[in-house]
Amino acid sequence: MPVRNQSSPSAVPALECRGLSKAYGASRIVLAGLDFTLARGEFVAVMGDSGVGKSTLLNLIAGLDRADSGDVLIDGEPINGLDDDAATRLRRQKLGFVFQAFHVLPHLTLAQNVALPLLLNDLPLGQAAEMLAAVGLAGRDADLPRQLSGGELQRVAIARALVHRPRLILADEPTGNLDPDTAHDVLTLFRAQARSNHAATMMVTHSEAAAAFADRVLVLRGGHLHAGTLSAQHSTAAPQASPHA
Ligand SMILES: Nc1ncnc2c1ncn2[C@@H]1O[C@H](COP(=O)(O)OP(=O)(O)OP(=O)(O)O)[C@@H](O)[C@H]1O
Ligand SMILES: [Mg+2]
Repeated sequence: MPVRNQSSPSAVPALECRGLSKAYGASRIVLAGLDFTLARGEFVAVMGDSGVGKSTLLNLIAGLDRADSGDVLIDGEPINGLDDDAATRLRRQKLGFVFQAFHVLPHLTLAQNVALPLLLNDLPLGQAAEMLAAVGLAGRDADLPRQLSGGELQRVAIARALVHRPRLILADEPTGNLDPDTAHDVLTLFRAQARSNHAATMMVTHSEAAAAFADRVLVLRGGHLHAGTLSAQHSTAAPQASPHA
């Protein structure tokens, strides 16, 4: 029987940030040597004042922007040691990104939008229809984005972020454009789908109601992430499931 040790895959975090620093000019220090670890399957919410650097942090993790110093490891692999091609490949395979403004391509059908990550990863395209059904949009494959409501569009964006079963999902204010009831429905679905895929999720939000869906709430302040708490009204709003359930 093989001996399990610390090299077992489950011991490798989905995401690790080590000493991540980013400044815009000499006076605008956004991240100040930030350290952070996200376990596999864990769902964290990141809150913080406007302009504090939440989107910058997600962009650095996603490789859409470069840190001044520090390391980002996705699934144990340091992204800053990779050349551009290798970093792009890693992002395609291991990352799903949900944006506030959906970023659904207007001239592609819903099925084509959701199939994009499959196409880029040489995976069977049939999973796109399954994923659309999983987010409650069965039979809408041939519709165009303009035929959808905001909540439906965000569900398409979630389907696209999850369809290739990424290890890590980054979501930047995914319910920022939705009314509270729709936001609740979208987050319920988002969390359930992320869990069934065993994906780790980092969600930036200004909404305590949205943050209540997370296993852990963090606040970005002074260039570091701190443990945060929700007000009493929201701290019991959502059932707290085990991150590894
Ligand atoms: N390309 C850039 N050049 C210069 N400054 C920038 C650039 N991108 C972001 N900043 C600055 O970095 C800081 C952090 O911006 P960021 O977008 O990460 O904030 P945020 O926490 O996501 O805010 P919000 O909650 O409003 O979305 C801001 O002061 C912003 O002006
Ligand atoms: Mg932002």
